Amino acid sequence: SVVPVILCGGSGTRLWPKSRQKLPKQLLSLTGEHTMLQQTLQRVTDYARPIIVCNEDHRFMVAQQAHELGIEVSIVIEPVGRNTAPAIAFAAMAALEANKNPGLLVLPADHLLSDIDHFHDAVKTGIEKSEQGGLVTFGIVPDAPETGYGYIKMEGGDNKLIGKINKFVEKPSLDTAKEYLASGDYYWNAGMFLFQAETYMAELAVYAPTIASVSTEAMKTSAKESDFTRLDQAVVEKIPPDSVDYAVMEHTQNGYVVPLKCGWSDVGSWASLWQALDKDAQGNVALGDVILEDCENSLVFGEDHLVTAIGVKDLVIVDTKNAVMVAPKDRAQEVKALVEKIQQAG
Ligand code: GDD
Ligand code: MG
Repeated sequence: SVVPVILCGGSGTRLWPKSRQKLPKQLLSLTGEHTMLQQTLQRVTDYARPIIVCNEDHRFMVAQQAHELGIEVSIVIEPVGRNTAPAIAFAAMAALEANKNPGLLVLPADHLLSDIDHFHDAVKTGIEKSEQGGLVTFGIVPDAPETGYGYIKMEGGDNKLIGKINKFVEKPSLDTAKEYLASGDYYWNAGMFLFQAETYMAELAVYAPTIASVSTEAMKTSAKESDFTRLDQAVVEKIPPDSVDYAVMEHTQNGYVVPLKCGWSDVGSWASLWQALDKDAQGNVALGDVILEDCENSLVFGEDHLVTAIGVKDLVIVDTKNAVMVAPKDRAQEVKALVEKIQQAG
């Protein structure tokens, strides 16, 4: 069986003022009726009962959003986040308790995907290798030297449905990213993974033994209440934080990559949300209550007021109940620094 594992622990400051610590982007509906978590759940209804790993603060919202869709889930609660390597380990152990030899399909709760049929085909392509002990990633053809992604080089050449990973480099420097992009040999890591729970735990024990052993201790000392598994804070705090990419994927000898040829966005900024969404003839994305006159290539979000704009281009305008943010689209990622300033000011 394939158990979807949904990583739902992000804190989301890059889509401020919509996303906030109490309400990160995966729990918001940015693009339609359903939240990003709900869209992720709807993508995997063909598989076994999903396991969602989330922070204590979000457990009720997560449960409620699954309930609204009538989808039954198991929820692992982290009192503090320790990044994705431990989060996946908790889910692996939870899956092993409930299933015989489960495969895990690890998905971030905060990505947009279009062409879901292609996504399912890609997963099917990866299943055989994962059943043979492989760690399968999904590769996106890069179009910019982004430094926030993992880069994957496939062994042997082009046009293969699946290939062995020759090299996995997480978050390279800008110069290295430029070099990889120019070479044409690299994919971006989509942040989704497919492997057997036992494979993951074995690889983690080799490359990050402390994470493996303390995560195991955390699951053993956890408390179960119906659909929730609550981890003990004191034990989780002993786990060294690290991502699956640094802890395992950069080191494994059993990595594979399936090229993913569907629309993909990790919605890392307002600009990338604009990029991912359908635009009107003038290149605008209008969300909520918005009237635009003679505007171009802008993203305008009116949540709590009617928002109007005349004659502007390349702007992001976001209105919420508590705050309004206006920025040139190519500087919208600076809200992250702005939020840190606001937090420091208390
Ligand atoms: N439960 C839980 N606990 N989830 C977490 C935690 C945690 O401590 N930390 C992060 N997550 C969730 C995030 O909410 C997100 O859905 C996912 O795990 C990935 O974490 P990010 O922090 O967003 O990772 P990233 O964007 O820097 O990098 C990853 O994704 C890129 C693609 O978007 C890597 O896998 C890169 O290689 C990849 O290119
Ligand atoms: Mg991310």
